[in-house]
Amino acid sequence: MNLRALRWTDIDRLVELEQAAFGAHAWTAPTWWAELAARPRRAYVVVESEPERVVGYAGLDHGGGVADVMTIAVDPAAQGSGVGRVLLDELVHRAGSQGAEALLLEVRADNDRARALYERNGFEVISVRRRYYQPEGVDAVIMRRHLAEGEATRGC
Ligand SMILES: CC(C)(COP(=O)(O)OP(=O)(O)OC[C@H]1O[C@@H](n2cnc3c(N)ncnc32)[C@H](O)[C@@H]1OP(=O)(O)O)[C@@H](O)C(=O)NCCC(=O)NCCS
Repeated sequence: MNLRALRWTDIDRLVELEQAAFGAHAWTAPTWWAELAARPRRAYVVVESEPERVVGYAGLDHGGGVADVMTIAVDPAAQGSGVGRVLLDELVHRAGSQGAEALLLEVRADNDRARALYERNGFEVISVRRRYYQPEGVDAVIMRRHLAEGEATRGC
């Protein structure tokens, strides 16, 4: 596995992975271009498998004392093999190195796999937005992880 920064040449592949991961809620190419244009406040990383195929990606918004996870997804064929954890660890370290004291994220209440990943990596539920995801009417769960001093000073 190789972890590196997102490049514009990855966008076609990301659109494909988004469809597989989020269906009707998937980001399209214009959204990805806008996210790239929002660097350095936004930071996206990808994981490649052999031979140089993107199998996962994740992104961060870090504008101050609190950073937000923008997205995280792994190719269905590569899920369950630790890629999600590698990506989440990278976001935690990047947020800390930018001086954030906490990392926030929002997840669908019915996304058991993602919630398990977050809970095992130190995130706790801080609030719930009822029926936030429409038209399904699924709650959004807001989770937070405090960033330790060691993470805040570790370089990337
Ligand atoms: C959520 C997601 C990113 C996890 O990625 P992943 O590469 O499968 O995760 P990992 O292999 O690193 O596993 C990390 C944890 O996730 C959970 N997990 C992984 N595969 C699982 C499975 N098949 N069943 C249940 N839980 C699973 C486990 O808790 C695991 O912890 P462990 O390492 O202690 O076993 C991935 O499932 C995904 O892309 N889902 C679709 C997009 C999405 O929902 N993104 C999150 C939006 S908030």
